[in-house]
Amino acid sequence: MEIVQDYSFKLLKYWRTSLLVRVLSLIAAFALTALLIVLPARSQPVVLSFLMNAPEVPTLRPLIAEFERNNPNIRLNMIEAPNATNLVEDLNTSSFLLGSSPYDLVNMDVVWLAKFAAAGWLRPLDDQVSQAELATFLPGDIEASRYQGKLYRLPWRTDVGMLYYRTDLLQQAGLQPPETFANLLQAAKTVQQANDAVQWGYVWQGRQYEGTAAMFTEVLQGYGGFWVNPETNEVGLDRPEAINALNFLLSTIQQGISPAGVSTYQEEEARRLFQSGNTVFMRNWPYAWELLNQAESPVRGNVSIKPMVHAPNQTSAGCLGGWGWGIASTTQHPEEAWKAIQFFTSAYVQKQTSLTGGYLPSLRSLYNDPDLLKKYEYFPLVLEVLQTPALRPQIAQYAQASDILQRYLSAAISGRTSSEEALQAAARETRSLLGA
Ligand code: GLC
Repeated sequence: MEIVQDYSFKLLKYWRTSLLVRVLSLIAAFALTALLIVLPARSQPVVLSFLMNAPEVPTLRPLIAEFERNNPNIRLNMIEAPNATNLVEDLNTSSFLLGSSPYDLVNMDVVWLAKFAAAGWLRPLDDQVSQAELATFLPGDIEASRYQGKLYRLPWRTDVGMLYYRTDLLQQAGLQPPETFANLLQAAKTVQQANDAVQWGYVWQGRQYEGTAAMFTEVLQGYGGFWVNPETNEVGLDRPEAINALNFLLSTIQQGISPAGVSTYQEEEARRLFQSGNTVFMRNWPYAWELLNQAESPVRGNVSIKPMVHAPNQTSAGCLGGWGWGIASTTQHPEEAWKAIQFFTSAYVQKQTSLTGGYLPSLRSLYNDPDLLKKYEYFPLVLEVLQTPALRPQIAQYAQASDILQRYLSAAISGRTSSEEALQAAARETRSLLGA
């Protein structure tokens, strides 16, 4: 005890007499306080928030956990959003309009890009990624990720509309898969009449939402028509090709090939009905294949995919869809956001999400991956269809243009107006939107 007292006394004496000791101890105290303030702040991980369409959440959750384990300084706050792309777009849009979006990353449908980029809501990514890296992606996906020459999105999955059919039912009826719209109607009717267990011939998306605009784009192109020419703003919705395209869809309902309920269907409603086993054909994106072939699926092993049908003398077209990551211009954490994007777009993540979620990769090399090819025999076919896809117009006013088309398609599909009236009104409103 005495020794301690003696020691403290000596220290105090030093402190009083030596200026150097006094200065040094003040510096030490200051440094210690600074450390105590800074350390806890630094050990808090950066949180990156983003919305994710509900069906994709389970596929991404384990991958996010893996990313967080390897990057303890970043936490990914995935917020579950609705399924329909236009609803998720609205959520993102309203938060950007408020000035400072709470989201750091934006998982973007290909059709949002022009609007989000034109509004200044995204950081350009050109400086982050080399030309050589970009060349490893499907060219159409990269093209669709640019606005006025700048890159705003890195794709993690592509998408394209396809025609699904029941191989067993066509074979029993001695039919080949259809090539034209007329073939499809005929084959559907033949199988429906021959087989009591087959209630429906064709299911598709007809609800008032983005998926119906996407589906219509490919029927329209299959008839040789167009929606909006993005170069000239010319509108093709009231031309005979467009009216023929809508009449084809209406005839499927009028002839009892499609249920009147398609007017309320999104992708999943069509998929569930087709999967229950009583339908011959379905229009859908490739994600459905994985679900259709799961162990408990009644149609497992009896489904094939082909390019969409077309009119005689025209070629078939699948609508280009797909999703990619952008960085919100308002984020405080662009470096961490870029790190997350590199992970989400990596070959590793794309392969996993393809294997578990059935999504189409956007990296070219994965179309030669033996595990993926074993599971998805249609990959080479998809690559072919992606050579000449049907594009929804890449214009900044896309959301409004699509909203107009969705409203009038829905009015015709649910029998409230004729195809001519619907498309003439849609064309008129679209022209006034584009100032044409
Ligand atoms: C898919 C496509 C997307 C499209 C949407 C419509 O998610 O990838 O591009 O807009 O379906 O429902």
